[in-house]
Amino acid sequence: MSSNFVCKNLSKIFSTDGVTVSVLSQIDLNFKAGEFISIIGPSGSGKSTLLSILGTLDNPSNGDVIFEGQNIFTLNAKELSDFRFQNIGFIFQQFHLIPTLSVLENILSPLFGRKVTYNKYKRAELLIESVGLKGKENSLPSQLSGGQQQRVAVARALINEPKWLLADEPTGNLDTDNSEMIFNLLEKLNLEKKCGVLFVTHDPILANRAHKKIEMKDGEIIRVEKIGEVYA
Ligand SMILES: Nc1ncnc2c1ncn2[C@@H]1O[C@H](COP(=O)(O)OP(=O)(O)OP(=O)(O)O)[C@@H](O)[C@H]1O
Ligand SMILES: [Mg+2]
Repeated sequence: MSSNFVCKNLSKIFSTDGVTVSVLSQIDLNFKAGEFISIIGPSGSGKSTLLSILGTLDNPSNGDVIFEGQNIFTLNAKELSDFRFQNIGFIFQQFHLIPTLSVLENILSPLFGRKVTYNKYKRAELLIESVGLKGKENSLPSQLSGGQQQRVAVARALINEPKWLLADEPTGNLDTDNSEMIFNLLEKLNLEKKCGVLFVTHDPILANRAHKKIEMKDGEIIRVEKIGEVYA
């Protein structure tokens, strides 16, 4: 299977009040279409920063991200936004739901201003069912538990059936049962839709259920472990 998501010599330096901090350095990674990859590492090791750059929500200080042969940081803002819409679903560590929108509207929000060929309401309904939120369509995020909000965030990331799902600790705020439910949903998506998954977690058991486990420390990749084969 071809490598369709590659980062080369990626680095990220943050400068605050004249102080520069190197947060990522010399990151070289290669992801195959349909791979399920877990990313682990201590707090502050750069996991969210790496995911933000791969999802084009932030720029690298140096290096390239190449997606299906295209260097994505050469795209202009409109092209980048289209790239994200067509290829990437992002689940944020802090949910980032829109507080004034209902569950249904939050899930549909990536489609605002976009023309799609499928019935978006039907798809949203199926997603709501698959994350166990039937009956909560009209609730506001503030009326939901943390776990329920996270499930809305998962459904929102999946609405346009992305090629890659970038999930930043999607089970971090959940109890064991909900955690298992979300993880099973990601596994099913990976298996049935061949959606690649980059899954950041602090849970060593879930991390070991991926095809490949990447370990970060102090902004570097210190270990890449192959666990299983990509489902063909
Ligand atoms: N916008 C920013 N400006 C300055 N420093 C930042 C910024 N964003 C992140 N950092 C720093 O970069 C480092 C890596 O942060 P990051 O959020 O990527 O870590 P993480 O591995 O996701 O941690 P956690 O497991 O706690 O979520 C931290 O030291 C953090 O303080
Ligand atoms: Mg993080």
